[in-house]
Amino acid sequence: MGNATRNKSVEFFEVQFQKQIRQQDYALNPFETLALDYLTGTVLDLGSGLGNLSLEAGRRGHRAIAVDGSSAAVARINTYAQREALSVRAVQADIERWIIDQPYDTIVAIGLLTFFRRERAFELLHAIQEHVNPGGRAIVNVLVEGTTYMGMFDGDNYYLFSRNRLAEEFSGWRILSSRHQTFPAPEGKRKEFCTVIAEKPSRAS
Ligand SMILES: C[S@@+](CC[C@H](N)C(=O)[O-])C[C@H]1O[C@@H](n2cnc3c(N)ncnc32)[C@H](O)[C@@H]1O
Repeated sequence: MGNATRNKSVEFFEVQFQKQIRQQDYALNPFETLALDYLTGTVLDLGSGLGNLSLEAGRRGHRAIAVDGSSAAVARINTYAQREALSVRAVQADIERWIIDQPYDTIVAIGLLTFFRRERAFELLHAIQEHVNPGGRAIVNVLVEGTTYMGMFDGDNYYLFSRNRLAEEFSGWRILSSRHQTFPAPEGKRKEFCTVIAEKPSRAS
């Protein structure tokens, strides 16, 4: 699958996910828990990680595609989807080069856009917006300036949004939720996140 496996960020998560799979640690994180209430129709979960959100979407009757660079995560999602007969499929891909090639009712990118340089982060954000069906939803969560924990980044291949920028990028959409949250990180550091859930105007309006 390209060279996402040589990407230090993906390697960081691969190790973390292997450990979580050994421990059967499949708890939804707070951003995924929030997202669940806003899912509509078909779902694309970009940078799905272990797929806790995608699998839960499947259990709630959604058709979902999960995309991630971690082979362990993708295998876990496909195993559980098959076991539970869910309409959920996971694909291993390097999102640095991946193209969204069809529209979805909901596109989720939780914790993903941070792992690319600025230009690619915005290119992906705009591709997400473009591929949400009218009346559908984008659910995007990023790390923002003020974050001091850098352990999971691949050299300079990361981008911290400024605190207001993500919501500003959704001007013209109906903002259903917009929040800023700070969480403690290892070594006394911190992670700061912004999450925006926005509905694309329907064609008629
Ligand atoms: C912070 S985790 C978030 C995972 C999940 N969305 C969640 O909320 O738990 C970031 C995810 O992005 C994936 N990722 C980062 N860079 C990637 C790349 N270039 N290609 C594919 N996946 C990538 C990682 O493997 C990881 O699963």
